[in-house]
Amino acid sequence: MSKFSIRRIRKEDLSIIYDIQVRSYDSRYVEEKDNFLEIISFYEEGCLCVETNGIIIAYVLSFPWIRGIPAPLTDKKFFMIENFKDLKDTNDNDIHKIFDCYYIHDLCVSPEYRSMKVGKSLFESVISLARQKNFKIISLTSVQGSRPFLEQFGFYTVKEVDYGGSTAYLMETVLQ
Ligand SMILES: CC(C)(COP(=O)(O)OP(=O)(O)OC[C@H]1O[C@@H](n2cnc3c(N)ncnc32)[C@H](O)[C@@H]1OP(=O)(O)O)[C@@H](O)C(=O)NCCC(=O)NCCS
Repeated sequence: MSKFSIRRIRKEDLSIIYDIQVRSYDSRYVEEKDNFLEIISFYEEGCLCVETNGIIIAYVLSFPWIRGIPAPLTDKKFFMIENFKDLKDTNDNDIHKIFDCYYIHDLCVSPEYRSMKVGKSLFESVISLARQKNFKIISLTSVQGSRPFLEQFGFYTVKEVDYGGSTAYLMETVLQ
């Protein structure tokens, strides 16, 4: 594969990202396009995509969050927007007064581009973003047998959770 680059997701990328999501997850985990839009407006900095030759091949949605709780999968209205205002005008110090971890909500590589280290590069970018923002804990909810992939980044299982109507695993890693 040619070189790839990582950049922020823009609104016009949403259809492609939604398509990658639909082709990657079991239907119980698929979120509405509106939710994507709301997550992006909640924390733009943490919503990134990978591009090669002008094609988007992977994405990640991530944001500051509350330790020990999976960020909810919702239908239409996104929980965060109802409960917290978007973080655009909130400085990093104030973000830490509300949130005590950084959360990777969805990281996904287009099926045709898997096993080429794209997922690993994207993961490393998010970890570096969380570190840069002074978070000590990164948390996520593991589905679809992704735990072995995540363990290589130091994630360990905190607890089983009900997610999309089935069992998933809340995991976290402590940044050194
Ligand atoms: C999980 C996922 C992101 C991996 O992305 P990828 O680009 O194929 O992975 P990479 O090529 O970067 O793999 C990096 C390493 O992880 C390993 N790996 C990849 N998927 C793995 C899995 N499911 N289990 C164990 N190891 C895995 C690779 O073998 C590779 O190991 P190496 O560095 O020793 O060679 C991708 O399969 C995906 O998008 N799945 C669907 C969405 C999903 O389930 N996301 C995770 C939700 S928490």
